[in-house]
Amino acid sequence: METGLVDSLLREERVFRPQPQVVREANMGQAELKAAQTLARQDYRLFWEERAAEMDWFAKWDQVLDDSNPPFYKWFSGGKCNLVHNALDRHILTVNKNKLAVIWEGESGECRKYTYYELYREVCRLANALRGLGVQKGDRILIYLPPLPETVITMLAAAKIGAVQTLVFAGYSARSLRERIESCRPKIIVTADGFYRNGRVINLKSVVDEALFGEDADCAESVIVVHRAGVETDMVEPRDLRYEDLIRQESPQAPTEVMDAEDPLFLLYTSGATGKPKGLLHTHGGYMVGVHATYRWVMDVKPTDLYLCTADPGWITGHSYVVFGPLMAGTTVVLYEGHPLYPQADRLWAIVARYGVTILYTTPTLIRMLMRYGSQYPRKHDLSTLRLLGSVGEPIGPEPWVWFHKYIGRSECPLLDTWWQTETGMFMVSPLPISLLKPGSAGRPLPGVEVDVVDRHGNPAGHDKGGFVVIRKPWPAMARTLWNDDQGYRQAYWEKIPGVYFAGDVARKDEDGYFWFQGRADDVLNIGGHRIGPAEVEAALTAHKSVVEAAVIGVPDSIKGEAAKCFVVRAEGWNKDYDSEDELIMALKAHVKRELGPFVSIRAIAFREQLPHTKSGKILRRLLKAEETGAAPGDLSSLEEE
Ligand code: WTA
Repeated sequence: METGLVDSLLREERVFRPQPQVVREANMGQAELKAAQTLARQDYRLFWEERAAEMDWFAKWDQVLDDSNPPFYKWFSGGKCNLVHNALDRHILTVNKNKLAVIWEGESGECRKYTYYELYREVCRLANALRGLGVQKGDRILIYLPPLPETVITMLAAAKIGAVQTLVFAGYSARSLRERIESCRPKIIVTADGFYRNGRVINLKSVVDEALFGEDADCAESVIVVHRAGVETDMVEPRDLRYEDLIRQESPQAPTEVMDAEDPLFLLYTSGATGKPKGLLHTHGGYMVGVHATYRWVMDVKPTDLYLCTADPGWITGHSYVVFGPLMAGTTVVLYEGHPLYPQADRLWAIVARYGVTILYTTPTLIRMLMRYGSQYPRKHDLSTLRLLGSVGEPIGPEPWVWFHKYIGRSECPLLDTWWQTETGMFMVSPLPISLLKPGSAGRPLPGVEVDVVDRHGNPAGHDKGGFVVIRKPWPAMARTLWNDDQGYRQAYWEKIPGVYFAGDVARKDEDGYFWFQGRADDVLNIGGHRIGPAEVEAALTAHKSVVEAAVIGVPDSIKGEAAKCFVVRAEGWNKDYDSEDELIMALKAHVKRELGPFVSIRAIAFREQLPHTKSGKILRRLLKAEETGAAPGDLSSLEEE
């Protein structure tokens, strides 16, 4: 957590006031916001209890928050519920029954639409099939799928029967997939033959086969394969099953499992600064309450909205705000399979215009990419249906903010920069549609959420002083622990600064209490909004026989925010295998993609005779980063005598 804190970057003076109509119609208006803030201050538990009362429960909780064993907090203990009851079952009894739940567009142009009732029937079919395969409450189901309707259906079916789902982004390699399989030991894996990305067919099933090669039989008893892209697939008997065959005979009615509020819902792996990916565990009750409330406040959904989020369901944004949050709110979700710039830079705008999207939630990296292509692409399409814009994943910066607001949002739509994490499950710091907006700022913490900026001892950093982002009170959608690693959870988040949750980000707070997030406090890379662990890339590099040691740091990138730069100590005799340094560099870049996944790209590799270490032997990435970027290296006390 030692880093060079930046007290203040460029001061941004521009402010944007909300349109009167937005203020009038907002779900969370001025009066509601004041009341919510007052209640959250005076009676924090009652505040969240009222949010919980907005959901359907099978039985009420005994206790709102059980904080008897910190940091292992429990929310709504004793309550019985199921997120899927709120996301699906309850809609079938209302006018939402015949409303569109999902509009899916494939990269090659095809479109499939599901009403809530149709989605319900599909989910029930798959739930029955999974039960037929012997899946029980608490069993893990690993989902390795691109954005398809079946991805949403599988997520809901798994939760409906009480299984613990874990999605693995379809850009991960066989090695990364295997690591996750070995950690969570899924009974079932659901995948696809292949999918379309940037005009190519990506073969997915073969990655699963490679990941499972040699695995013992108590794991992944069945692999369910969705047939999407007509890829010829080796079906291993009797393990592999066609999704379409499996559900054909199943009844479109299935009971929803009654879960305890604290029963696990999903496990999502994310990267830390050290070691292997961490499996964050989320539960039914608190997660559904937190996600539902924050989605309604921030995205301000109305019954007529059409919502498009460009995140892949495999990331936390996809869980909370592509699938679970929007469906709990009864929204129509547009899900797009492919690359946002395929076949050209206006694909996203064509989708917005085609369906009449009203809310668009995306990432700074995509905004910067679209900005580079210029405003002629959005100008070709009717974007007048848009009424709200959102951003997530990395600091957006004032210029992309203003471009997005002006050219996509007609200088009218609120543009909300939401700060949160896989660990938080829900939005934590974000403006509301009624807020005064400052380009590049994520605004203030939401009601019921206490985020602050502190120095390394936990004291408030003071206005405009850079510091560590911490959360002072538990919140309902917080991750409960790391899969099979309570101690690791405690160490990673609750012991860095005693008594508070340590988010791993640095930020400053201005005189109005607006947050300006600056990036990670640890060595984690954020490439295009994707968290990449340096230790994982280093391990991949050192697995190559020409590499003795490697250090990986993030360097600034004008599009993706950050890019990976690697420092490598070569093995003796590397030049017997490679004719030149360039050839070795190419081989290493390809090797990392193969080891970790095609979405992990390395910008540059530099060769060194040795790397700087702490006395305890850890690589000092911070020193390399300081040399590279000219920034102050921060507290180097751990550099010790070196
Ligand atoms: C970063 C994504 C600045 C941050 C929801 C955080 C952001 C990490 C923002 C979590 C934002 C996310 N402004 N930085 N609006 N949103 N981050 O777990 O460093 O994939 O710790 O969750 O992304 O990434 P994760």
